[in-house]
Amino acid sequence: MLASEAHAAKGAGLMKPQSPPKTYRVKSFGCQMNVYDGERMAELLGERGIQPAPEGEEADLVILNTCHIREKAAEKVYSDIGRLVKAGNKAEAQGGRAPMIAVAGCVAQAEGEEIMARAPAVSIVVGPQAYHRLPEMLDKAAQGERATDTDMPAIAKFDGLPARRKRGPSAFLTVQEGCDKFCTYCVVPYTRGAEISRPFSHLVTEARKLVETGAKEITLLGQNVNAWSGEDEKGRAAGLAGLIHALAAIDGLERIRYTTSHPNDMDEALIAAHGEVSKLMPYLHLPVQSGSDRVLKAMNRQHTAESYLRLLEQFRAVRPDIALSGDFIVGFPSETEAEFEDTLRIVDEVRYAHAFSFKYSPRPGTPAATMDGQIAPEIMDERLQRLQSRIAQHQLAFNQASVGKTCKVLVERTGRNPGQWLGKSPWLQSVWFDGDYAIGDLVEVQIAEAGPNSLMGLVRENAAA
Ligand code: 5AD
Ligand code: SF4
Repeated sequence: MLASEAHAAKGAGLMKPQSPPKTYRVKSFGCQMNVYDGERMAELLGERGIQPAPEGEEADLVILNTCHIREKAAEKVYSDIGRLVKAGNKAEAQGGRAPMIAVAGCVAQAEGEEIMARAPAVSIVVGPQAYHRLPEMLDKAAQGERATDTDMPAIAKFDGLPARRKRGPSAFLTVQEGCDKFCTYCVVPYTRGAEISRPFSHLVTEARKLVETGAKEITLLGQNVNAWSGEDEKGRAAGLAGLIHALAAIDGLERIRYTTSHPNDMDEALIAAHGEVSKLMPYLHLPVQSGSDRVLKAMNRQHTAESYLRLLEQFRAVRPDIALSGDFIVGFPSETEAEFEDTLRIVDEVRYAHAFSFKYSPRPGTPAATMDGQIAPEIMDERLQRLQSRIAQHQLAFNQASVGKTCKVLVERTGRNPGQWLGKSPWLQSVWFDGDYAIGDLVEVQIAEAGPNSLMGLVRENAAA
């Protein structure tokens, strides 16, 4: 079906015609892939001559690029729409215009019809695999036709997007999307669809473009980034390690990272790459979710606590200083106190440099949402607090162990005071330091002090411009 037919079939009613927007604002929630998608939507609008709204001014078009991973994240969209409608009414009463509202991202995918029914002010609902069609949808909305597109064509969107315009030292690059793992708590396989890898040559081209426009660091993104597979320039089968080797050959690219991985998609080549590719940063985000094998089984994680720990040992063997990060869920249905303590134990064993932890949130349509033994909110709160304080102890210890070390820091922004800069260490720690530098510089810094969330550094020499 042609895109335009898809729209006609999926049109979602009429509203007042709106003059075409001249300015936009994209508000991205949730994961880094949404940040990437938000940038790409902005580029698409830029091609049409629609400009970012100046700081502090209302935009003619507001895109809410939403997250559906937990209930709280998903509900934000409705409160945001409410706020926009109120602001729009006020603006119209004063002779201005109400913003055109578009809902993008995973809530759009999962609840498109509900949004259209619940929020008549929304003009456009566009899923994460369909946003390359945004310009046509804007035309429809301007004519007074509400437009919904939650088709999931096999990653066709990348072919319909303009060239990268990213400026800034640190850039995201989506290499893989979707997930076939079906962890029983997770909406991603439903909202982002099946695992799909972007072609090798497209990724190398996009990475080069990013470097040409100022990127020194590229973070490769995918819901299961280490499941990326493709064919290299010689037609040989390649995994993520092969792609990383190829990207490392790009002059001017200084740092490569990737996130998020699944333990079962790790291969020898990727582990080895951490010992071979100096541009590959010593950092690994590898979610485990729970330290209990029974809970892992109920989550359909398809790995055990032990197999996860063995995997991390392999990374530490090739890169002893690697910073380890993870994701955890507390209060999965029927999780006992003893099983939760297994999670605390794995945190102690790994000594994470950083980790994210969440209270289990039942997501409609996922198997875990209807499992017996849903855990009371107060128990979840208490477990989350204990887990987060344990993680914080290890994070502080990791940061403290950096004191006295010298490392390169990639300058990302100015600090609070003049002459102060904030950048990232190879281990993804935030480092503050003073000196005469610019965003994008790689500065050799000695770590002088460590706090729970950031480090203070002293400059030794300007290592690279
Ligand atoms: N409830 C709580 N946390 C969740 N995550 C995914 N689904 C849920 C859920 N239903 C967490 C997992 C995942 C991270 C991105 O979000 O830890 O790794
Ligand atoms: Fe969700 Fe599991 Fe896939 Fe990660 S691996 S995106 S948690 S289903």
